[in-house]
Amino acid sequence: MTIESIGTAVTFTNGLQKDFGLTGIEHVLFAVEDIATAAAYAGDWGLTRLPGDGVVFASADGCQVEFVETDLADPRRTPVGGSSGLVQVTWGTKDASFIPAIAAELGEDRQAVTDDAGVLHSKDDLGFLIAFRPTTRSLPAYDPTRYNAPGFPERIDRRAVKYDRAEPREISHLAIGVDDAAEAARFYVERLGFRISDRYANRGLFLRCSPAGNHHNLFLMNAAKPGTRFNHLSFKVRDIHETVLGGQAFETKGWTTFAGPGRHEVSSACFWYFLTPFGGSFEYAADEDMVTEEWVAEDFAATAHIFSQWTFGLEKSDGTLKGPISNSKEGNA
Ligand SMILES: [Fe+2]
Repeated sequence: MTIESIGTAVTFTNGLQKDFGLTGIEHVLFAVEDIATAAAYAGDWGLTRLPGDGVVFASADGCQVEFVETDLADPRRTPVGGSSGLVQVTWGTKDASFIPAIAAELGEDRQAVTDDAGVLHSKDDLGFLIAFRPTTRSLPAYDPTRYNAPGFPERIDRRAVKYDRAEPREISHLAIGVDDAAEAARFYVERLGFRISDRYANRGLFLRCSPAGNHHNLFLMNAAKPGTRFNHLSFKVRDIHETVLGGQAFETKGWTTFAGPGRHEVSSACFWYFLTPFGGSFEYAADEDMVTEEWVAEDFAATAHIFSQWTFGLEKSDGTLKGPISNSKEGNA
């Protein structure tokens, strides 16, 4: 697969893609008007509140979601695209040796400053603050789900796990609504070495930050509403049962479904999205595609019905979905 074969608006020379040893999302910073409600949402979502003065939550592997109060006089408290929303994304690197190389790359046309803690601070072309640090994520050991498929029994003399609530293991990906996904992807692909895993024409691009790993760490999509803003943040849970039982438990607490539960066509993830009180959605996701450089990207038509293979709550009718997703140009993924 060459990049040229799946993109026309995004063009660059295959084989010369950079590799900065990126490992995924480490930290996401939101500025919100109502920090108490945002904190309640994150706690109910199954994230763990970390001790300290800040309002910081973590998934099991240490991925962090931080909330600060919106203050338009402070760039670190200024959301992009609204009065509440995303401010900054911190990406992990395999180790500290990659940080100077990223600083040199970004320093060619923008500010790129490494602080005393070794964290590199810069900005993307969409207006979001971006940072880079050696990864501190560490997934605690757990017993993965075992299935009894016909002819392949793996769970013997054991009942299946029943989840009382979701406990997100790690952050899967971030989705941002933009006016021009192909143009927005250019910075991440050409400057930071992101790969395109799949796409909806040039209107929705699924990008992964490393040659092998999660199907996408960043999804850039042409949004129904003009402008750039947070769309959703996806968290990996252990299996479809945690997606559904966790979603049920979350819904019982009074939070509102955006879409799901269902299974995506692109990336194969089982999903359930819930609206956040600060805009956009959080997504529970399980069993996503994991890919390598052998992965063959596809170009999916940007139509609502490929949002999911199946969905409860949003019903297929004449090849389209009823419900909020059909009101979007791209939907979510
Ligand atoms: Fe997603």
